Amino acid sequence: MKKVLVAGATGYLGQFVVKALKAKGYRVRALGRSAAKLALVEEYADDLFVGEVTDPDSLSGLCDGIDVVFSSVGITRQKDGLTYKDVDYQANRNLLTIAEASGVSKFIYVHVLNAEKLRHLAMIQAKQTFVNELKVSPLDQVVICPTGFFSDMEEFLAMARSGRVYLFGDGSNRINPIHGADLAEFCVGAMDSQEQQFDVGGPEVFTYREIAELAFAVLNQPKKITCVPKSLVSATVGALRWLTSAKVYGPVEFMASVMTMDVIGDAHGQRRLAEHFRDCGGSIESKSREDHPLPV
Ligand SMILES: NC(=O)c1ccc[n+]([C@@H]2O[C@H](COP(=O)([O-])OP(=O)(O)OC[C@H]3O[C@@H](n4cnc5c(N)ncnc54)[C@H](OP(=O)(O)O)[C@@H]3O)[C@@H](O)[C@H]2O)c1
Repeated sequence: MKKVLVAGATGYLGQFVVKALKAKGYRVRALGRSAAKLALVEEYADDLFVGEVTDPDSLSGLCDGIDVVFSSVGITRQKDGLTYKDVDYQANRNLLTIAEASGVSKFIYVHVLNAEKLRHLAMIQAKQTFVNELKVSPLDQVVICPTGFFSDMEEFLAMARSGRVYLFGDGSNRINPIHGADLAEFCVGAMDSQEQQFDVGGPEVFTYREIAELAFAVLNQPKKITCVPKSLVSATVGALRWLTSAKVYGPVEFMASVMTMDVIGDAHGQRRLAEHFRDCGGSIESKSREDHPLPV
């Protein structure tokens, strides 16, 4: 059976991917920045590799014996001083370089749906630059473009718990978010695919307003929703750019952009958002990535 390197194995999606690969009989090497973080997946990985994906010197031997590289490495919530260019572009470029030199046959990369409409964002520019280089690589490649993950929808639950949900735009744009376990199953299915790109979403389409209402309903709290009109969105994000760091405005700018457009991928999976919200319902606030238990 093929051996797969999972980069991003300590993240929300990566943890599910490690488990899903193992369930299908693949051999798995998990890459992470520390042994402590890799403990999250050690039960499912055949071997663990401690290395800094942003530092090529620490990656020697990483792809030895590897057939396929899967990468979900990227900044979702900034935890260190690095930029999207350092991580979403350069770290993935480092992985591709070592994969090409090591005889890896395929590279699977997790991008973002609607990237062509989001080119003004630094995160998307970094990811797209990597995808452009992946496309001219001699390796077989699959680019998976997902909608929003259930982990990100937990932000609505956190806002509802604090009493009010803020929406960018009027809340009428639509999204079909996907559970990490469903997306992981899709990614594992792509291992043997000849197609090079997939737009992937979950089984249910919601407006953003409906997601906010669902969060209030699960918490059994009165609905209080405030919309930031589309005309004020860019001024709000612009102000945040001046008043805060990239750590704050980067994710807000991304949310503001996706909430004012439809984000619909081909429907996959069966896991339902209401059930996920109910599962999270007892938590005090939105779960951090580290709090996500290994895959249900
Ligand atoms: N969340 C969404 O709704 C969504 C939607 C569409 C696409 N995506 C994309 O899908 C990918 C995976 O998302 P996710 O929610 O699974 O993200 P996540 O939980 O934040 O995981 C990201 C992974 O990248 C690693 N990483 C980040 N910065 C790093 C750095 N400086 N050095 C080394 N490793 C670093 C993390 O390592 P640590 O655990 O050590 O931090 C983690 O393993 C991302 O590229 C994201 O942009 C996400």
